[in-house]
Amino acid sequence: MAEIQAGTRMRQESTKPKSELGGMVVLDFGGQYTQLIARRIREQRVFSAILPCTSRVEEILDYKPAGIVLSGGPSSVYDADAPKCDPGVLSTGVPVLGICYGMHWITKVLGGTVEPAGRREYGRAEFSAADGSCGKLFEGLPSTSKIWNSHGDHVRALPQGFRSTGLTENAIAAIENSEKGIHAVQFHPEVKHTEQGTAILRNFLFTVCKAEPKWSGAAFIEDTVEAIRKKVGNKQAICALSGGVDSTVAAALVHRAMGDRLTNIFVNNGLLRKNEFEDTLQMYRERLGLNVIGVDATERFLSQLKGISDPEEKRKRIGREFIAVFAEEAQHLTRDAGQEAIGFLVQGTLYPDVIESVSVKGPSATIKTHHNVGGLPMNMPFALIEPLRDLFKDEVRRIGRELGLPDEILMKHPFPGPGLAVRVLGEVTPHHLKLLREADAVVREEIRNSGFYEKTWQAFAVLLPVRSVGVMGDGRTYGLTVAVRVVNSDDAMTADWTRLPAEVLERISTRIVNEVTGVTRVVYDITSKPPGTIEWE
Ligand code: XMP
Repeated sequence: MAEIQAGTRMRQESTKPKSELGGMVVLDFGGQYTQLIARRIREQRVFSAILPCTSRVEEILDYKPAGIVLSGGPSSVYDADAPKCDPGVLSTGVPVLGICYGMHWITKVLGGTVEPAGRREYGRAEFSAADGSCGKLFEGLPSTSKIWNSHGDHVRALPQGFRSTGLTENAIAAIENSEKGIHAVQFHPEVKHTEQGTAILRNFLFTVCKAEPKWSGAAFIEDTVEAIRKKVGNKQAICALSGGVDSTVAAALVHRAMGDRLTNIFVNNGLLRKNEFEDTLQMYRERLGLNVIGVDATERFLSQLKGISDPEEKRKRIGREFIAVFAEEAQHLTRDAGQEAIGFLVQGTLYPDVIESVSVKGPSATIKTHHNVGGLPMNMPFALIEPLRDLFKDEVRRIGRELGLPDEILMKHPFPGPGLAVRVLGEVTPHHLKLLREADAVVREEIRNSGFYEKTWQAFAVLLPVRSVGVMGDGRTYGLTVAVRVVNSDDAMTADWTRLPAEVLERISTRIVNEVTGVTRVVYDITSKPPGTIEWE
């Protein structure tokens, strides 16, 4: 019965863009690796959407998925508040892959048993394919390989119709019911430490689900441009550019859909790096052909920061001032264009932000909230266009490349919304900003010259309001200190300080002390995150 209903649902018209159909739906049980699963699938050019495990079967089938993946999660299936899916997801006729908690949930729901492991399996383990089992997930793979586990429970008795297709020393590591298209693994194929992880996912995608590798930048751009055109009709839109990758790619996409009916606003808050405002504005206009209004609001921001040393207070004031400046510009534009003419506001929201805000309602633990200064309040009379809300960061770069954006933007290191205000420690004065800009320019130039720019996540200078004694020539000096911060990271959640060669550090130090009058000492920050953060404030 459920299968007949599911069949009917699968035939119904979808509300999703064409490029998102026929991929995978990943149901989130709150696992720390859920986003990673979705990214690994997309790396195989198959679209994947993350939905809370509590989603209705109709919502899942709206994507016309070729497969459904049930994520891991921190709970035990026997916990009173253990997250659950609608059991109907196991009888839609769409193949299912359960990972870790997903495997436990499938086992329990279908009548098998799960129990706490006698010996908990965390970390690496050796996987062996069960003798002669020919599990579909392991087709063409070596019979033994290293895997990565992270759970305290394991499957004790299989549900009816299932067989074990793989084992570790302590537990059943993989099961399947190929008739029903249900597969599950105890370990994490999405984690790099699982040697055959990608091959296992590929077997699920292409052998079991027969998914087509059609998720591509070109298809996404075409769909998105069409959807934006449909949405905006003959109205106009505005966009706040920050100089970073996300807002630039968002603006370039919307520009492709509606040309100069998109007006961009780029605000100089007086907290940008050396020459950044002028150079970026020129690039936006001349190389990308965007219609941009450059607003120099330096004085307004600096007067807001006068006498303020507390980092959070700085952030708050900068955020507030940004909103005020943007709202005024939007008002001018509305006045000039006619009250009803501008209907939309473009924002560079990414998929991880969307999932995090959705998952708050579901079981997923929210790891990070970030106060992005570019975030605008929605009490403005505009509807939102968020063309990147289905993309991960690396996909945004790829789309940007397809749109012809220069590497200068695509490979740019992240820069915090409050800019140099959180790198001038203590009060932000014009003099301290000037010193920091000069020192920072040296750091960035040397990092580029030494080939470390592309290899590092961020590289910058911090001005410390700390004076120390030195000598220069015959004289005594008593100047300020610059800390140099260079880190490697994948996602800014954790970071490690970069082991720069001593010669590079030496050049940076010598140049800063020689070229930036007022700075007499340079130190290198060797704190990782955690326990440190990347920024100093
Ligand atoms: P932390 O210092 O928290 O930084 O380790 C992680 C990443 O976020 C950036 N960052 C910010 N970005 N507004 C932003 O838009 C902020 O207030 C802010 N604070 C930190 C930081 O540069 C790093 O990439």
